[in-house]
Amino acid sequence: MRTVAPGRVNLIGDHTDYTGGLVFPMAIDRWTICEGEITDDHITMTSDDLEGVVQFPVGAPFTADMQPSWGRYIAAVASLVNPQHGVTAHLTTTIPVGAGLSSSAALELAVAYALTDDIEPTALALLMQQAEQRATGVPTGIMDQLCIASARQGMGTLIDCRSLDVQHVEIPTDVDIVVQFIAHRTLEGSEYADRVRECAQAEELIGPLRDAALSSVMSIEDDTIKRRARHVVTENQRVVDFTRALTSGDYSGAGALMHESHRSLSADFAVSTQQMDDVVESICAIPGVYGSRMTGGGFGGCIVTLCQPGTVLEGWKVKPVSAAHRAD
Ligand code: GLA
Repeated sequence: MRTVAPGRVNLIGDHTDYTGGLVFPMAIDRWTICEGEITDDHITMTSDDLEGVVQFPVGAPFTADMQPSWGRYIAAVASLVNPQHGVTAHLTTTIPVGAGLSSSAALELAVAYALTDDIEPTALALLMQQAEQRATGVPTGIMDQLCIASARQGMGTLIDCRSLDVQHVEIPTDVDIVVQFIAHRTLEGSEYADRVRECAQAEELIGPLRDAALSSVMSIEDDTIKRRARHVVTENQRVVDFTRALTSGDYSGAGALMHESHRSLSADFAVSTQQMDDVVESICAIPGVYGSRMTGGGFGGCIVTLCQPGTVLEGWKVKPVSAAHRAD
């Protein structure tokens, strides 16, 4: 038994998923692989990168004090997919951990496919979103799991996080997408949950942010809540505009929207860091660069850049790949 799950980079649309907004990530050519044997009644996992042996019986309830602690992810997945068998497997990955490239969602999907292969991708993504929340206690959205569960080779996934509709959008081959690692981070203990709460507060005032007009956002008195809402409403529009620009060959326009997205995440949503702001500004000044932005939850992680092929930048060039699956 061998399962494979890619990481993802989000091209645009951050901190919009948990208010039913729009996102445009793509699965990337970095993978977590789970390889082993189907067994009767125990789940046993080891990893190249994480210490210890995770072991528990099939059907065991999830406990947050699981040791080693990375076993929380495995136990959360197992508690949600109702496995009919055990597995003894080893995990390896080429996705940097804690870098905002969804190594945890890839882990969840790789383990899920090792335990079951009869749940369709959207249903599985919803279960794996719950697994992530159960394992970390962070109220994360659906973007990462749905992208990794549904991606297609050569395509980005334009996701409507309200209907869970996924449109597969061709990523042009005459641009490079480059990811640069900035700093390790974890969303546990970060202000991520505060942002989710602030968006909910905005929605109590003006209704669903997905439907809100900028004019009603501007009527919010509390300056912090107004800024958070302004980011979400303008970011949803940027996702639409970016998709149109990218698919019509207007790469400068697409890049300008990425840069705007970064500024909004930094100034209005307050999830960037000084270091990330500095790197984005200096990358955007390099000839051949269309645009650059932080990607994912923020507070560290990675920067993603759209540029002319062959532009020399720090980091690594990524390609859009297909969804998590059982490889044999
Ligand atoms: C993390 C979460 C996602 C999403 C992004 C921000 O990656 O897991 O659900 O909210 O942050 O866009």
